[in-house]
Amino acid sequence: MQLPAHGSNPDHLFKALEMEQPAKLVDFSANINPLGTPAAIQHHWQGWLIDIEDYPDPSASELKQTIAVHEGVAESNLLPGNGASELISLIARYLHGKKVLIIHPAFSEYASVCKNESCTIFYHIVHPPHWQLEKAALQQEIEAVDAVFFCHPNNPTGVQYDRSTIDWLIAACEQAKTLLIIDEAFYDFSSNPVTSIKKAGQSPFLLVLRSLTKMYRIAGLRLGFLAGQPKTLEKIGKTQPHWSINAIALQAGSLCLQDRRHSEQTRAYIEAERKRLCSFFKKKGFLHSPSAVNFYLIKDPSLDDQQDLFLYLLRKGLVLRHTYNFPGLEGGWLRAAIKKEAENNLLMEALSEWKKGN
Ligand SMILES: Cc1ncc(COP(=O)(O)O)c(C=O)c1O
Repeated sequence: MQLPAHGSNPDHLFKALEMEQPAKLVDFSANINPLGTPAAIQHHWQGWLIDIEDYPDPSASELKQTIAVHEGVAESNLLPGNGASELISLIARYLHGKKVLIIHPAFSEYASVCKNESCTIFYHIVHPPHWQLEKAALQQEIEAVDAVFFCHPNNPTGVQYDRSTIDWLIAACEQAKTLLIIDEAFYDFSSNPVTSIKKAGQSPFLLVLRSLTKMYRIAGLRLGFLAGQPKTLEKIGKTQPHWSINAIALQAGSLCLQDRRHSEQTRAYIEAERKRLCSFFKKKGFLHSPSAVNFYLIKDPSLDDQQDLFLYLLRKGLVLRHTYNFPGLEGGWLRAAIKKEAENNLLMEALSEWKKGN
């Protein structure tokens, strides 16, 4: 059976598969904060109505100031965007026709937007159980390309690499004069984050990408930013549409970043749930990736291809993300977001039943 590409759109998935949709669905395919949007957003929402009457600030200067303080970087090292996705598209446009290496498995957008920009794409694939970079091979690959996309912490494995590995990668790219783009969309879900944002302003060969849509659950509002040297950001930002970030996103972004309690509570919640889920998987004989963040890969090791398990869970209304379109995974794993305790319990109950019947 050919499974459609999906993520955060379960209705489309059931329709494409011509499957009857259960009355209640739990969507484990979108990696967004299970604790929701910060309360301050709801509180201020009505007051922002007036802001939609005028054009938003095209330079997003207040938001930039807040990000600069939050991250300890200069405003000139920042380019905000309409979600990290917009910035990935702008980077691809900047790389038009160039050779691009993607460390895989990784977010599928890098390849699709770079293909649209006639880039030649190469893959460096990392393998389970540790998903480590193969440095000797990677060094040669880096020397042969113009840019490298690296998703860190990685989507879909959730793996966070240690500081020395990241520093090795940054140095290897700098030495080869290859532009390294580190996508840190999920960095703030880690209890011990490893970020390179401060280094991005120091090198013309490093860009660091962030998203606010996941931690602050504003995926429908859209907000992200890129950190790098001003000259590079200027070139990348040239093709960004004017007023790209709407007036409410500008206001909400600043409030979200100031609400440090929300992200602290989220990290504690995620860590506790991840520990609970992982010890269950171990007990029941499922394999999982060593995730540091709010999602993980899982597989039943008795199956090479997880399609039967994926469909079984779908029939129970539990929508995980299949991995057929991730080079290096090819359906051999499923990805699940860490959700609220009761929802994670539903998944564990279904997996227990699956084990009994298989
Ligand atoms: C690794 C990664 N980077 C970037 C994005 C895009 O994020 P945004 O919602 O900010 O456009 C996603 C979305 O799923 C993602 O998984």
